[in-house]
Amino acid sequence: MSHAEDHPSTRRDFLYYATGGVGAVATGAAVWPLINQMNPSADVQAASTKRVDVADLAPGTQLTVLFLGKPIFIRRRTEEEIAEANAVELSELVDDNARNPNIGDAALATDDNRTLADFSGENSGEWLVMWGVCTHLGCVPLGDGAGDFNGWFCPCHGSHYDTAGRIRRGPAPENLWVPNAAFVDETTILLG
Ligand code: FES
Repeated sequence: MSHAEDHPSTRRDFLYYATGGVGAVATGAAVWPLINQMNPSADVQAASTKRVDVADLAPGTQLTVLFLGKPIFIRRRTEEEIAEANAVELSELVDDNARNPNIGDAALATDDNRTLADFSGENSGEWLVMWGVCTHLGCVPLGDGAGDFNGWFCPCHGSHYDTAGRIRRGPAPENLWVPNAAFVDETTILLG
């Protein structure tokens, strides 16, 4: 069974403080079981990398996996989501840095700089891979078009992220960070 079949994303987002010690859990949030994705034996064997099968991830859905103890959102975006992200001017952004270590510290937060090229090297904008950790205080944002910008919403203190995971409103200071990631075959993303 693939990861996507195992954990279809629709309305199964979860909320918790990813940074230890805070202790608060938002009420009313659906709790998404992490257990099956944790794969501790694999993580122990290869603590800094993780392979994720995205073969069955349909456009408009999101897969959440744990990597190094924190959630990673892998979203296969629709044409509408891509177009919405591309329509945003950099001047409209709270944080104009791509926050993408795959392309360097200085890259701007264009949609192209936030998204992952497929195995052929082409970047259609379809694949968005991000740490699912709010840059305010570390909650895990809700996805599937949540918030005022149809991307992700962190209800802990009201941060809204757009369809490219860029912070648009609320106290979070930075865009959701992109992890080190690359396609290593047509349907597998390597994290780390
Ligand atoms: Fe996300 Fe505060 S932790 S808004």
